[in-house]
Amino acid sequence: MIISSATDFREAARRKLPPFLFHYLDGGAGAEQTLEANVSDLQQVKLRQRVLRGSEELDLSAQWFGKRYGLPIALAPVGLTGMYARRGEVQAARAACARDIPFIQSTVSVCPLAEVAGAVDKPIWFQLYVLKDRSFMRDVLQRAKALGATTLVFTVDMPVPGARYRDAHSGMSGPNGPMRRVWQAMWHPQWAWDVGLFGRPHDLGNISAYRGHATGLADYIGWLGANFDPAIAWHDLQWIRDEWDGPMVIKGILEPDDARDALSFGADGIVVSNHGGRQLDGALSTARALPAIADAVKGKMTIFADGGARTGTDVFRLLALGADGVLLGRAFVYALAVQGQAGVEKLLAIMEKDIRTNMVLTGVKSLSEVGPHLLTR
Ligand code: GLV
Repeated sequence: MIISSATDFREAARRKLPPFLFHYLDGGAGAEQTLEANVSDLQQVKLRQRVLRGSEELDLSAQWFGKRYGLPIALAPVGLTGMYARRGEVQAARAACARDIPFIQSTVSVCPLAEVAGAVDKPIWFQLYVLKDRSFMRDVLQRAKALGATTLVFTVDMPVPGARYRDAHSGMSGPNGPMRRVWQAMWHPQWAWDVGLFGRPHDLGNISAYRGHATGLADYIGWLGANFDPAIAWHDLQWIRDEWDGPMVIKGILEPDDARDALSFGADGIVVSNHGGRQLDGALSTARALPAIADAVKGKMTIFADGGARTGTDVFRLLALGADGVLLGRAFVYALAVQGQAGVEKLLAIMEKDIRTNMVLTGVKSLSEVGPHLLTR
């Protein structure tokens, strides 16, 4: 199969992965309207084409928290990435390192922080949820810090897990889940061999490290459900801001008032995100939420955005709508599932080329020049 885009990677991943994994990644909450709107609203964003203003020297770098990165992209924290490719978080982190962009490791990764941090020569970023178990939060933060993680991405849009209807159908949850997953693995021998067999252990590495015993997929679902905390508010979290002395990014902001609250809380950045359409179905798409948030806090904190970016053009659109950087979630995991580290590097190269083309055709030389003036109706 010829692969020249994230859409091709998605199709190849659909063929290669057991359905319970493909649909867990690909699906969203409820009727998946927000999931779809993330993609379709972004595609509606129109760019202003300009001619004969090009330059051979294009600057695609981005600067966040005093450090320069090779592209305006970071790899988003995606739980269970290590189920999609052999030691998947390590491969993804290496790809990010090779392209000089951040890899944000999820709390619920398969590979523990120490395995990933030890496999790359640049600092990783670490993502944490708001959890009931405060001692786990403290412990994992200390471990992340000791392993050199520079930036904390704090996810606040999952006080309860969203309703993911696909999971019951796919065997991720629902009746006879374990048996169905084994059956599916038998029909996807390439995955079964490479990841199912040789990608072990399939622990939740950070949680096992804390609990002192192995934790698997069944624990994942249970742990997510049992550990999220719907009662939490900003003031309950001040201790984390006090404890983490590096940059902190609050992930899951869709309203300007929440962006202002994040700023007063002491956050250095936000991710404008509806969790890839996996939480509140019916929430605004990222493309529609972003402009008002940029009006409220642009220049006062770093604005990342995620949701629906499948091409370099989509990344460029999000920058034009007001983001300072874009997180890729599903897109990079499709690529990782198909070709591992090389797949992620290939996807990033495809996106880089798109961004370059966009820069020339909109007449900008540096990404710092990208903004709403490039948009048209
Ligand atoms: C976890 O963050 C999920 O979206 O499933």
